[in-house]
Amino acid sequence: MIEFNIPYRSQNEEIFLKQAIQSGCLSADGDFVKKCEHWFKKNYKCKHVFMTHSCTGALEMAALCIDIHPGDEVIVPSFTHISTANAFVLRGAKIVFADILPETMCIDAADAESKISPNTKAIVAVHYGGYAADLNRLSEICNKHSLFLIEDAAHSIGAKLNGKYLGTIGDIGCLSFHETKNIHCGEGGALLLNNETLLEKAEQIYEKGSNRSAFLKKEVEEYTWTSEGSSFSMNNLSAAYLYSQLRELEITNSYRLEVWNWYYEELKVLIENKKIFQLPPLPEKETIFNAHIFFLKCQDSNTANAILAHLNARDISAHRHFPPLHKSPFGQHFRSIDCPISESEYPKLIRLPMHTGIKKADIKFIARNLAEFLSE
Ligand SMILES: Cc1ncc(COP(=O)(O)O)c(C=O)c1O
Repeated sequence: MIEFNIPYRSQNEEIFLKQAIQSGCLSADGDFVKKCEHWFKKNYKCKHVFMTHSCTGALEMAALCIDIHPGDEVIVPSFTHISTANAFVLRGAKIVFADILPETMCIDAADAESKISPNTKAIVAVHYGGYAADLNRLSEICNKHSLFLIEDAAHSIGAKLNGKYLGTIGDIGCLSFHETKNIHCGEGGALLLNNETLLEKAEQIYEKGSNRSAFLKKEVEEYTWTSEGSSFSMNNLSAAYLYSQLRELEITNSYRLEVWNWYYEELKVLIENKKIFQLPPLPEKETIFNAHIFFLKCQDSNTANAILAHLNARDISAHRHFPPLHKSPFGQHFRSIDCPISESEYPKLIRLPMHTGIKKADIKFIARNLAEFLSE
C-alpha cells in the first residue's frame, strides 16, 4: 500500500517529550512552547507569535483580534477547508465566497475585490498546497479598502514569497501543525501577528480574556478579566514534539520537493501525447515552494473518478480535496454567489501520495499505473 500521508518523524521527539514531562510543566507556560515561539521569531523574523492548539484555533483567534461582529462580511475562497470560513461564522460574520485561479487553486484577487461591500471587514487568502496566493495584489486591495488581510497558511510551513515567509505578510497569518502537514505535533497551530496595533488585544484574547500577559511582564500586580477571549494555547507536550520537527523543517521540505520533482519528471513524459490530465503549475520564481501537495488536474470529473478508482484498486491512496463551500449544505445559508472556477476545477483535482516515506520506486510504480490507465 502506498499511503497518502505518513506523519513525519523527527529525531528528538521522544527526548524532548521526556524533558517536557520531567520539567513538571505541561501547560502553555512550558519551556518548549517558548522555544517554538523563539524559533518563529528568529527564523520567520516575526515579532509576535502565539502557539495555538490548531490552525482552526488560530483562525478563531484572528476573528476575535479583528473584532468581527454580526453583520460584518468576510471574503473567503470557496475552495478551502471549512475552518477558514467557520472561524468567522462563529463571530456572526457573513461569508462572501470568492472564486479561485484555476492553476494554483488560490483566491482570485480580482474576484475578491469585485465582492467588497461597505460591510466587508477582511479578506482571507489561503495558500493552497504551499502555492502563494497573490499577496501583492491582495495587500494593495486591502490597503485601498481598509480591510484586514488574513493569511490561512495552514499548508505553507517554510514557503516564501519575495523572500518573506507565507503567514508573515498579511495582518495575521495562521499555520497548522496537524499530522497531515509537512511538520506537525498531531494537532497544533500558530498565529503570527504582523499588525502591531492588534498586539494588546491579541495578548488578552490568548490569555482567556485577561491581562495575564501584562501581569507576567510585571506591568500589573494581579490579573483580571479584561476582554473577550478563550483557550487557544498549545500545551508543552505538543510543543516539545513540534520543536523537534521545526528543527528538521529544511530536511522535510527539501525531501518533499524531491518527491514533487520525481512526480513531475515521471508524469511529464506520460502526457506528451495524451492530455487526459495536466500537471500542477511549476512554482513562480519569486517563491520558495514547500511541496505540501502534488495534484493532477484531469480533463473532467469522470476521468478523475476513473483515475482515483484505478489507483485505489492498486493500493495507491489518492484523494480529492475541498468540495466548494458555497455549494455545501451550510454554505448555502449565505448569499448565493457564483464561483464557477471552484465548481469546475474541484471535481477534476486529485491529490497523489506525498510524504517523506515515499521512495523513487513508489513514484515509478504510481507513474506505471497512470500509464496503464492512459493506455486503456
Ligand atoms: C486551508 C486550511 N485551513 C485550516 C485548516 C485547519 O487546520 P487545523 O486542522 O490545524 O485546525 C486546514 C486543515 O487541513 C486547512 O487545510
